[in-house]
Amino acid sequence: MVSIAVLGFGTVGSGVAEVLEKNAVSIAKKAGDEIRIKYILTTHDHPESPFGQLIIHDFSAIEDDPEIQVVVECIGGVGDALDYARRSLNAGKHFVTSNKELVAEYGYELLQIARKNDLNFLFEASVGGGIPIIRPLTSCLAANEITEIAGILNGTTNYILTKMIREGLSFDTALRQAQEKGYAEADPTADVDGHDTCRKICILAALSFGRHVYPRQVPTEGIRGVTSEDVAFASASSRRIKLLGRAQRQEDGRIAVYVAPHFVADDDQLANVEDVFNGIVVKGDAIGDVMFYGRGAGKLPTASAVVADVIDAVKHFGAKKFVDWSDGGDDVVCDPAELPLRFFVRTDESEMRIGAAFGQVEMIPADVPGQRGFITEPMTRRALDAIAQGGFAMLSCIPILD
Ligand code: HSE
Repeated sequence: MVSIAVLGFGTVGSGVAEVLEKNAVSIAKKAGDEIRIKYILTTHDHPESPFGQLIIHDFSAIEDDPEIQVVVECIGGVGDALDYARRSLNAGKHFVTSNKELVAEYGYELLQIARKNDLNFLFEASVGGGIPIIRPLTSCLAANEITEIAGILNGTTNYILTKMIREGLSFDTALRQAQEKGYAEADPTADVDGHDTCRKICILAALSFGRHVYPRQVPTEGIRGVTSEDVAFASASSRRIKLLGRAQRQEDGRIAVYVAPHFVADDDQLANVEDVFNGIVVKGDAIGDVMFYGRGAGKLPTASAVVADVIDAVKHFGAKKFVDWSDGGDDVVCDPAELPLRFFVRTDESEMRIGAAFGQVEMIPADVPGQRGFITEPMTRRALDAIAQGGFAMLSCIPILD
């Protein structure tokens, strides 16, 4: 019998308890041992819950209990979660987390502590909810040099954009529905402003390119600025607007990482990733393009990935799983404002002014009174900003996924 502790009893933590109980027999077979939750750490009691008698409020009881072999963190954030991660690993306990902020900010440090103590630090659920992506990147695709990752990594914003485009829902109504379904972060600004996507692309970049990429190094734009006019121009050019995290290896070895809404062609695989689903395209030099697709948020999909990590930790008690990367630094990333991209631009300027500022462009024939939309030739974001600073009225400016 293996005893574990679950930290947090919100959407994900309660899902983990449910899955472990519901599938106990098959999980025991796969893990090679029975897994039981001995403690659930929360700030509140839950007398109504079938797991209510497992609830404790003091982490020391877990830290000091030699029976606890695996600690599962579903609290989120980098306050208590970071403290408990360090203390668990230093107390000789394997650590499983769904916490992308923890991994994106402190993954390198925690992997080092795990390595020093010969323990596993596993975080499959931190990116893509229930989609297997961490293991495929570290194992199945290990023979490849990864050149690029581009993904719809946030279920809440994809749900909101889908509802706005398909059903004409307002931003606020769509966000409220996403919250009711348990997709959104406790503070949904992390979803809407792109920070959640940023953390996830940092983790994928570190796994793919071998150096820690910190969220503060990643220019990040969310979906607040996306308007119904942008949606109309996207539709008139046979495209859809998607919030993407992108990481591309450059010729000099540095990585261009950024988060922004993109115009994605209707026939691109990512365009058809709708609702709460996530889609991640990985480009490898041997395999070409591989796409990962599935439910990117929600109680049971996320719990599915967390419990898979628990099973893996139990199966590999004597062996270190190979998940690792080196520390980050200023030499890791380059400025994405220097990438040559095509951009959608929305403006109320005349065609003559557009031609004078941009030269050759592709006008989009949408019926938006008083406004024009066009697609530029490849240019840098820096050059585009210089045109805006020179007095050209740019109402929107959205990169094209080419
Ligand atoms: N708020 C996140 C999302 C949860 O909507 O994708 C899963 O990480």
